[in-house]
Amino acid sequence: QSEDSVHSNIILVGMMGTGKTTVGTLLANLLQYPLVDIDAVIAESEGMSVQDIFASKGELYFRELESQTLASVLEQKGQIVSTGGGSVLRAENCDLMIAKGLVVCLTADIDHIVQRVGGDDNRPLLAGDTYERVSSIMEQRKHAYQFAHVTVDTSLLNPDEVASHVLTRYR
Ligand code: S3P
Repeated sequence: QSEDSVHSNIILVGMMGTGKTTVGTLLANLLQYPLVDIDAVIAESEGMSVQDIFASKGELYFRELESQTLASVLEQKGQIVSTGGGSVLRAENCDLMIAKGLVVCLTADIDHIVQRVGGDDNRPLLAGDTYERVSSIMEQRKHAYQFAHVTVDTSLLNPDEVASHVLTRYR
């Protein structure tokens, strides 16, 4: 790989509960890169949680901020970027991600996702019956994650194994 690609970003995409934050933290430590969590940047700049942004300003407002934040974060290189599960819903975001780093999609089967996110009040899209919500979101998005350079099923791997697998594709 070229010198340039060594410093490009690693961008994690995938459904809620597939391990983006956990794996992102490990990758950041291993590579000594900063971890930039798009949801956290948005919450910080708005001074409220993602949950509260959805509740008070609506999803569209959040999606606009998400696209803007992603674009400004991806002006930098050499970062681990953890994205919200819905950032792939806009083709413009996907095009940008592909151009700005190695896009890694984490997947997991539905039972594992429900286990990981069940009862998490910080995920506004999952209010109600978690299994039902996760399966309907997965169904709606099943093609949206296919643009990634690499896809890793995290169901049966521990986070260290996922991180080292990602590194084999990066170096
Ligand atoms: C969303 C996922 C969340 C957050 C928001 C919407 C989604 O991020 O951006 O609640 O549409 O899948 P995580 O994937 O980090 O939970």
